[in-house]
Amino acid sequence: MKDSYGFIAPFYNRLAKLVFGNQLAVAKRSFISRLGEKKVLIIGGGDGKDYQNYQENLLGDYWELSQSMLVLSKKNLHRSSLNFHLGNFRQKENHTFDEIWLHFVLDTMFDSEIMELLDQLKRSLNQEGRIFFVDFFQPTTLKNKMLQFFMISFFRMVAQHKRKNIPEYEELFKRCLWEKEKEQIFLKGWVKAQVWKISEG
Ligand SMILES: C[S@@+](CC[C@H](N)C(=O)[O-])C[C@H]1O[C@@H](n2cnc3c(N)ncnc32)[C@H](O)[C@@H]1O
Repeated sequence: MKDSYGFIAPFYNRLAKLVFGNQLAVAKRSFISRLGEKKVLIIGGGDGKDYQNYQENLLGDYWELSQSMLVLSKKNLHRSSLNFHLGNFRQKENHTFDEIWLHFVLDTMFDSEIMELLDQLKRSLNQEGRIFFVDFFQPTTLKNKMLQFFMISFFRMVAQHKRKNIPEYEELFKRCLWEKEKEQIFLKGWVKAQVWKISEG
C-alpha cells in the first residue's frame, strides 16, 4: 500500500501549527465531553499529536492509511487505550462506537468515497452515537481563498492529494441520511466543527 503521507508525516503537525497556530487543535476538541466513558472510532487521525493532552481518556479504535502517520500516532498516544490499525477503515461485526471522529480526512476523499464511508459508518454507531466532524469548508475571505489554493496545490504535490476543491460535505451527509445537530465555526467559517446523527425522518 502506497504511503501518500510518508514524506510529510514528520513535519505535518509543525506545519499546521505554523500556519494556523492552535486553531485546528481547538476545533478538534469541540463538543468533547465525558470522553473516558465513551468508545471512540478515529479515522485518519494522522500523527495523533493534537489528541495527546487527553489520550488517557481515549478508548476505541484508530485507523490510518499512512504507515508513517500510524507509527507516529502509536508513539504520541502510547498512554491511550486505543487499538491501532493500518489501512482503510473496515467494519468489524458487532463492533460499535459512541463517537466517530473524522478530522480533516473527508477533504482527502472523492465524493463517492465519502458517501460510501458515511453509509458504512451508520452500522458502526451505537444507538445514541454521533459523528464528530471537523474540516475545511469554502473559505470566505480572499486571504483564506489564496491560502487554500496554495495548500491544495502543496498537498497535491507532496501527498498525492486527489481533489482540486473542497467537498460539499453537508449535501453528502444529507444524501446519506445524516442530520446535523451542532456546529461551531472557526477561522471565519473556513473551518467548521459539526456533530451529525443518523436522520430520524
Ligand atoms: C489531512 S491529514 C489529517 C490528519 C489528522 N486528522 C489531523 O487533523 O492532523 C489526513 C489523514 O487521513 C489519512 N487518511 C486518508 N484517508 C483515509 C482512510 N480512508 N482511512 C484512514 N485514514 C485515512 C491520511 O493518511 C492522513 O494521515
